[in-house]
Amino acid sequence: MGKALFITGTGTDIGKTYVTGLIVKCLRDAGKNAGYYKAALSGAVRAEDGSLLPGDALHVNKVASIGETIPNLVSYIYEEAVSPHLAARRANEPIDFEKVEKDYERALAKYDFLTMEGSGGIICPLRWDDERHVILDDLVVKLGLPTLVIADAGLGTINAVVLTIEHLRMRNIPVAGVIFNNSHPGDFMEEDNAVMVKELTGVDVVAYVKKGDTDLAMDAEKLAALYK
Ligand SMILES: Nc1ncnc2c1ncn2[C@@H]1O[C@H](COP(=O)(O)OP(=O)(O)OP(=O)(O)O)[C@@H](O)[C@H]1O
Ligand SMILES: [Mg+2]
Repeated sequence: MGKALFITGTGTDIGKTYVTGLIVKCLRDAGKNAGYYKAALSGAVRAEDGSLLPGDALHVNKVASIGETIPNLVSYIYEEAVSPHLAARRANEPIDFEKVEKDYERALAKYDFLTMEGSGGIICPLRWDDERHVILDDLVVKLGLPTLVIADAGLGTINAVVLTIEHLRMRNIPVAGVIFNNSHPGDFMEEDNAVMVKELTGVDVVAYVKKGDTDLAMDAEKLAALYK
């Protein structure tokens, strides 16, 4: 049975997929058997043959050279670029959380270090219908995962990161660290953002990713230690 880490972010489009690609690549470059899993992806592109292409999963699969098949990477793929609960409702394909757990367990059995990417931020409704009300944080609690928070390095991040961490802690979800994306080394405000995140939450910014980075500037063993 492998170890796992859940990648959340301060919001959608913050760079979870981009940074996850570098995370899985870093582990695999160090010789570790690292994989990727995402429960639900919305905003998928329709291919010429009519199939839906899960952009996030395909990106990480390629960047990190995982060589995995689409059904093993993502459980639910929706075309409309809206929250999964809404995309699922409109596609008439609600998430079955028993399938998600089964897919997750299968991935965990196959990989030593499984990186699971969330959808949007931590308050992302996955299913909201007459039968079930499930938010992404409920799934993280159910799977018992520690989290890594991806955030923008710049202005506004103190608020977004602290709110995210406070919510995770309110749900008793462990926070392993923060990664600042779109970072500019030497920028006095961004440096202070990292200091203030540590002061206000006790959580370290464990790595910094610049625009266009092709590798994660982090020791693979230190990264691997975040998985539980
Ligand atoms: N460090 C970076 N360098 C270059 N491009 C980046 C970087 N970070 C993010 N991007 C680009 O910004 C866009 C949004 O990033 P990404 O898809 O990783 O966000 P996300 O948080 O995974 O979004 P979602 O909530 O849809 O899963 C993508 O086009 C991605 O390639
Ligand atoms: Mg993504």
